[in-house]
Amino acid sequence: MSTYPTILDTQPEAANEPGHGREGSFGPTLVPPARPLASVSTLNPEQPLARPEETVTVGVPPVRTIVVDRAPVPVAPPAARESIRLSSAPGPERLTLEQVSVSYGPKQAVNSVSLPIHQGEVLALIGPSGCGKTTLLRTLNRLTELTPSSARSGRVLIDGEDVDGMPDTRLRARVAMVFQQPNPFPMSIFDNVAFALREQSRKRPNRRALEPQVIDALKRAALYDEVCDDLSRPALRLSGGQQQRLCIARAIALRPEVLLLDEPCSALDPISTGVIEDLIHELRRDLAVVIVTHNLAQARRVADKVAFMYMGDLIEYGTTQQVFEEPRATRTRDYVQGAFG
Ligand SMILES: Nc1ncnc2c1ncn2[C@@H]1O[C@H](COP(=O)(O)OP(=O)(O)OP(=O)(O)O)[C@@H](O)[C@H]1O
Ligand SMILES: [Mg+2]
Repeated sequence: MSTYPTILDTQPEAANEPGHGREGSFGPTLVPPARPLASVSTLNPEQPLARPEETVTVGVPPVRTIVVDRAPVPVAPPAARESIRLSSAPGPERLTLEQVSVSYGPKQAVNSVSLPIHQGEVLALIGPSGCGKTTLLRTLNRLTELTPSSARSGRVLIDGEDVDGMPDTRLRARVAMVFQQPNPFPMSIFDNVAFALREQSRKRPNRRALEPQVIDALKRAALYDEVCDDLSRPALRLSGGQQQRLCIARAIALRPEVLLLDEPCSALDPISTGVIEDLIHELRRDLAVVIVTHNLAQARRVADKVAFMYMGDLIEYGTTQQVFEEPRATRTRDYVQGAFG
């Protein structure tokens, strides 16, 4: 057996027994367990960390059981990854926001935001929960209009053309979106990527005709090498990180000009997060990327430009270094220094 720990969440068996805190009460309950709640160990699996008679349970928390079973995968330290990411020259302006405001009924979610979004750049939208990041992101390809109570004013231009005049399928092929939770369709890996391509073409192309585009998208999403042995495998059997890269492959298969990512790594482990951050860095060569993230370290690592929002207002927009190192607004400084979240 190797000596590397993995962490699993389990419920203590004692918690399921009558009188042990689950039935009818939700407040904290101190429970002297009859036996150890879980085997917890690090280097020596035989030796419990705490003596059973000292262990108490408050409510019914999950117990973290460390199982020694696999070697860690080495990842470059964030500082090393940052240094790779710092060189960028902004390309043409792909999206332009002009005084964009969005409301849901009486609730004003976004207030008169104006921003340029360039090819060759990653723009990170940051700000506390509820400040309007997702709403602004979804406005860029008119997804907010699917919410009946929503109303928008101002203009969104793609390559100078107003998105309001475009058929929504065409717009969403040009401005593609990947959501927080990986959401592959319940079909094969191949068909997930082919789906978007089939939707866009008038004649339904067969598998062989689509194969080069599907493989290209999987390669650009840094997934192909891991799945090339069997593209007919159900997508839902992939890991979370692989599923998210599949969703990115599906989004970029149509060669969009802009890729919108709403907290794409929030459900992923650090290794998958690192893979996706590297991928974002690669993708920005060909398109503009807008990412919403709560992870300020991630924003520093992946973004060229940062927009800080607060209660629907765009408080500050600038280079990543300027926003993090020399913020102009006090509120930005407080946020990036962790004074509020
Ligand atoms: N479908 C909706 N109907 C009504 N109000 C909504 C709807 N979606 C969002 N809101 C409101 O709009 C405001 C902005 O929400 P939004 O989801 O854009 O924030 P966010 O910055 O993405 O937050 P988080 O970081 O928690 O994801 C919030 O006050 C939210 O309650
Ligand atoms: Mg959000």
